[in-house]
Amino acid sequence: MSTPFFIDHIAVDPPIVLAPMEGVTDRAFRTLVRSLGGCGLAVTEFVSSEGLTREIEASWRMAEIDPGEHPVSIQIYGRDPGRMAQAAAFCQGIGADIVDINLGCPSKTVTTGCAGSALMREPELAAEIFSAVFEAISIPMTVKMRLGWNHEQINAPKIAERAVAIGAKMIAVHGRTKSDGYKGHSRWEMIREVKEAIDVPVLVNGDIIGPEQAWRALELSGADGVMVGRAVMSDPWTLARIACAFRGEDFEDPSIEARRLALHGYLDRVEVDGHFDRKTLMRVKQVVGYFSKGLHQAARLRKGVNLAADFAGVRALVDEFFAFHELRWEVAL
Ligand SMILES: Cc1cc2nc3c(=O)[nH]c(=O)nc-3n(C[C@H](O)[C@H](O)[C@H](O)COP(=O)(O)O)c2cc1C
Repeated sequence: MSTPFFIDHIAVDPPIVLAPMEGVTDRAFRTLVRSLGGCGLAVTEFVSSEGLTREIEASWRMAEIDPGEHPVSIQIYGRDPGRMAQAAAFCQGIGADIVDINLGCPSKTVTTGCAGSALMREPELAAEIFSAVFEAISIPMTVKMRLGWNHEQINAPKIAERAVAIGAKMIAVHGRTKSDGYKGHSRWEMIREVKEAIDVPVLVNGDIIGPEQAWRALELSGADGVMVGRAVMSDPWTLARIACAFRGEDFEDPSIEARRLALHGYLDRVEVDGHFDRKTLMRVKQVVGYFSKGLHQAARLRKGVNLAADFAGVRALVDEFFAFHELRWEVAL
């Protein structure tokens, strides 16, 4: 049994967090995952503090949250403390429950701008950013990081300690270094040092793909909750599965009807958002792929969807796919 934890006054119940993923955890995807259960907190994809404060529409869109999705955290990145503070205040203004600072993503676009995990090598600047953001908001500030820059420079415990002394209310740690990229495996046991250095909740992250890994990661790290990323892309029910195990219950695999409803809910959400650009279309195609995985004729659906020219084309193929499954079901009965 695993118990909920608090980020300041905010309950994370169950103690399972959807990880920030650029190009994936947009509003429609977060709403979808939340609707499937097991999500105690969701984090947006990282948003540029420069983009937010310079009124770049694409950045604003990445920070959009739904009035119904709480608690939700907006993750920001950047290396200018003033801009980070302004961006954090903006996030609070649009209804975020939490502002998360990205110190941990090795994405090229972030590290070349010397933000993201590059900040693990500049603890003084990182501390300036923590202070500026903390002063700018009244909602909780949290930080996500890797273990360090490389195995010679494991400084997550020190940076976490500094962040908490300034006011951070939760620390999430991916158990790899920046130089690891995604090689090897997440060192959950090394996150224990972070847990022991601070007195706010810690999330263990990296390579958790289901209940078995979630239990093991918690046991080895001593963390208060798990953060899960890539596994949710290949199985959107991953968080629900883990939550069920935490409650000591068996998880029932989603029926075709449950998949149809969830995917329809997602497509409706995208339609309401009304952004039918290329980027959105790519994301929609990806999500359709996750949802149909393992079903009869799924490869055919994915092929068709990949060739579809627009959102309406994708929707028509999805409808056709599930109508076909419904018919198969009736015939089988
Ligand atoms: C496609 C993708 C995009 C990501 N984008 C972000 C991001 O915006 N911010 C961040 O802190 N981490 C980002 N990450 C890292 C994840 O949040 C997570 O730390 C990492 O994938 C390890 O967890 P997992 O094994 O559960 O996926 C991203 C990872 C992936 C695969």
